[in-house]
Amino acid sequence: MKARVLINKGNIVGEIDDRLYGSFIEHMGRAVYGGIFDPEHPMSDNYGFREDVKALVKELNVPLVRYPGGNFLSGYKWEDGIGPVEKRPRRLDLAWQTIETNEIGLHEFMQWANELEIDVDMGVNLGTRGIDAARNLVEYCNFPGGTYWSDLRKEHGAQKPFNIKTWCLGNEMDGSWQIGAKTAEEYGRLASETAKVMKLVDETIELVVCGTSISTLPTFGSWEQTVLEHTYEHVDYLSLHMYYGNPENDIENYLAKSLDMDRFIKGVIAICDSVKARKKIEKTLNLAFDEWNIWYHTLDTDEQIEKWQVARPVLEDIYNFEDALAFGCLLITLLKNSDRVKIACLAQLVNVIAPIMTETGGESWRQTIFYPFQQVSTFGRGKALVTNVRSDSYDSKDFSNVPYLESIVVENEERNELTIFAVNRSLEEEMTLELDLQGYKLHSVVECSTIAGHELKATNTKGQEQVKPVKNEQVAMTDNGIDVKLPALSWNMLRVKTKQ
Ligand code: AHR
Repeated sequence: MKARVLINKGNIVGEIDDRLYGSFIEHMGRAVYGGIFDPEHPMSDNYGFREDVKALVKELNVPLVRYPGGNFLSGYKWEDGIGPVEKRPRRLDLAWQTIETNEIGLHEFMQWANELEIDVDMGVNLGTRGIDAARNLVEYCNFPGGTYWSDLRKEHGAQKPFNIKTWCLGNEMDGSWQIGAKTAEEYGRLASETAKVMKLVDETIELVVCGTSISTLPTFGSWEQTVLEHTYEHVDYLSLHMYYGNPENDIENYLAKSLDMDRFIKGVIAICDSVKARKKIEKTLNLAFDEWNIWYHTLDTDEQIEKWQVARPVLEDIYNFEDALAFGCLLITLLKNSDRVKIACLAQLVNVIAPIMTETGGESWRQTIFYPFQQVSTFGRGKALVTNVRSDSYDSKDFSNVPYLESIVVENEERNELTIFAVNRSLEEEMTLELDLQGYKLHSVVECSTIAGHELKATNTKGQEQVKPVKNEQVAMTDNGIDVKLPALSWNMLRVKTKQ
C-alpha cells in the first residue's frame, strides 16, 4: 500500500505547548504509596522517593503533573497533608474505598516535583469543600509571607512560595460517581466565584474549569455551555477527559477511536467559541485534556480487590502492543489539535493506568505505551505542521473512512529538525510512505524507528521489555523528500535534519 504526506514550510497548526506532555498522579491505588514513594525500598532517597522511578519519569520528559486527583480530590482536605507527618490523620478515601495515611502531602509532593523540574497542576476540592479552602490553599502555596497561611508554610519548612501556576477547579463535577457532584448551574456558579477569589489571592495563576468527564454522558455539550456561561471570563482552560479501550476485541475499530477523540476536541472548541461569540469576549479559551489514556483491562476485576487497605492496587492495567498503537493515534490527535489543546495530562504516571509499573519494594519497568509517549514528548516539541495525508481508508464498526495512515509532522527550529510520527493501521499491509516536505532542504535522516511485528496482546513485564522501538532501515532520501516503509500495524518515528 502507498500513502503520501505533504507539508509546506510555514503552514502550521500551532505552537506546541510543552504542557501537552503533562501527566497525572492521584492519591489512589499504588501511584503514590508503592509507586513514587516507597521508603523501605533499597533505591529510595532520603525522602522515601524511589530513584529508579524518578529516572523513568525523567525519561518521559514530563513537564507538568496534575495532583492530587482525580476523584480523590473531591473528598480531600489538603490541610491533612501538612505539618508533622506523625500527627497527620488517617482518613477514609471514599472515592477509591481505601485508607489514606497522608504520609505524602503538599510539601513532600512539591519536593519530588521540584527535584524533577516538573510543574504541578494543583486541584482544589469543589466536591465537599469550596471557596474558603481553595483561597487558603492558594495563599499557603503562593503568597510570599506575613499572613496566617503563608507563614504556616514557612513554619513547615518552605521559606519560598511554591508558586504554582496552573490550578484545576475541582474534578469531573458532572459525574454521578463524584463526591459532591453538581448540576451545571450549581458547579458553574461555584467555579466562577472560586476562580474570582483564587485570582484575588494571586492574579498570575491560570485556572482550568471542568468540562464533561466522558463525552458519552447525556449532559455533554449542555454542561460546557452552562458552565462557560458562568465562568468564561474567569478561567483560562476548559477540561476534557476521555479513556478508550478495546473490550470488544475489534482491533480495526479500536485503532479508529482516535477519530472520536478528534471529534470530541473539535466539538468542545465549537462550544467554547460559541460562548465567546455570544458574550462578545476577545479572549479565546484553550483546552486542557487533563485526563486521557487507554483504560479497560481492569474495569471488571478491580471490584474484587479488598477494600479499606492502604494503596489498594486498583487500575493496574497491563498494556499490550495494540494498546501502544491506539495510544500513538491518540497522541497524534492531540498534536493535530495543538493550536487549542495547550495542556494534556496522561492519566496516570505510575502504576495506575500508567506507562511506568513498579513492584512495591521491587523492580520497575516500562509498559508498551511508555515508548510512544517518550518519543513524542522528547521530539514532538516546536510547531505542529499542517500534515496533508493521502491514504487508503477503511470502515469499522463505529467509524467510516478511517485512513490507514495516522500522521503528524513537527518542526523544531532550534534543532533544525523535522520529526514525523506515524501509525500504519493496516493489519496486513506494509505501507510505502512518501514524504513531500515542501520548502525544506534536507540534510540527513537522524533516526528512524518502529514498534512493530508483535502479537497484538504482547505485553512488557518486569525485566522483559519486548514491545519497544527498534531501528527501521527502510528509509531513503529522495529528490524532494523521503520514502519510508512502515510495517503493517506499526508505530513509527522519523527524525530528519534540515539545512538552514
Ligand atoms: O484516572 C482515574 C480516574 O478517572 C480519576 O480519578 C477520575 O477523575 C477519572 O474518572
